[in-house]
Amino acid sequence: MDSTGKRALGATAPQFRTRLLAWYDANARDLPWRKDHDTYRVWVSEIMLQQTRVAAVIEHYHEFLRRFPSVEKLANARQASVLAAWSGLGYYRRARMLHAAAKVVVRKLRRRLPQTAVGWRELPGIGRYTAAAIASIACGEAVGVVDGNVERVLQRLGGEPIRGEALWGASEKLLDRARPGDFNQAMMELGATVCTPRAPTCLTCPLIELCATRGELNGAEKGVRQKKREIHYALHRRDGAVFLVQRPKDVSLMAGMWELPEITPPGKNRGPAFTVRHSITVTDYTVHVWSTAPPNDHGQWISVTGLNRVALTGLARKILKKVESTKEAT
Ligand code: ADE
Repeated sequence: MDSTGKRALGATAPQFRTRLLAWYDANARDLPWRKDHDTYRVWVSEIMLQQTRVAAVIEHYHEFLRRFPSVEKLANARQASVLAAWSGLGYYRRARMLHAAAKVVVRKLRRRLPQTAVGWRELPGIGRYTAAAIASIACGEAVGVVDGNVERVLQRLGGEPIRGEALWGASEKLLDRARPGDFNQAMMELGATVCTPRAPTCLTCPLIELCATRGELNGAEKGVRQKKREIHYALHRRDGAVFLVQRPKDVSLMAGMWELPEITPPGKNRGPAFTVRHSITVTDYTVHVWSTAPPNDHGQWISVTGLNRVALTGLARKILKKVESTKEAT
């Protein structure tokens, strides 16, 4: 690490905090979970924000909280309703864990949400990052966080690919102990909007003078290569209903959720009704949707008007939305 990087992560920490927080105060995005520090709401937002873009979270956040406005309402809900409200956010294990954790809070903690990162980590689905994020943002505990954005910011500032425990140490050392929640969100915000993975806008960065890299750090940030796959689905409609199948309950991805029946492509002399693109984790899917009857009847007719009460996979919801918007439905 050169002297600039050392300064950024050590001697000039007070200057670093002042600059970062002044920038955050002037530039923070107006995100719904930043409006109040209600612990339950911050918790829900942090679970949704794991592996999901802020824009997609905003679309679902209000509706989820309308359906489950308190930890009691969430704990008492049926799992199918929770999954239905989660539909479109993906990574459904998060929703199952959130539901399980709400039950623990209501049944074992007498409705009292934890107030410290150590307490949060005891709940299902809460790892080190999420515990620190909730405890600092909602409870004001002075604990640093490291997520992908913070990692990149710290690496570029320091000018070397620090990893693991050293990242947590750096985050803790820089933390503004008077405003830990704002500081942590400011680090994430800087990574998401200025110190971006590609083409960071260093000229607008409040920390440019403290940064050892001022650009992309060579070799430190390797992109994950996306896989490509084609899949085919049958779109089978009748009297305002659509034919859907349920995924097995014992698969790891989207267990028990509803989707269109997958088929082999029905021959070369006709084409699909339409094609959509969809990404799940490291796979980019090209999805062909055929207007055809599925080859088997292990499914159910579900009325188009009742679809928002069903736990659809994000891809099924995307396809059915497209069908509706092109007036092919009903
Ligand atoms: N990513 C995870 N938590 C976040 C937050 N509170 N603000 C912005 N991005 C985030």
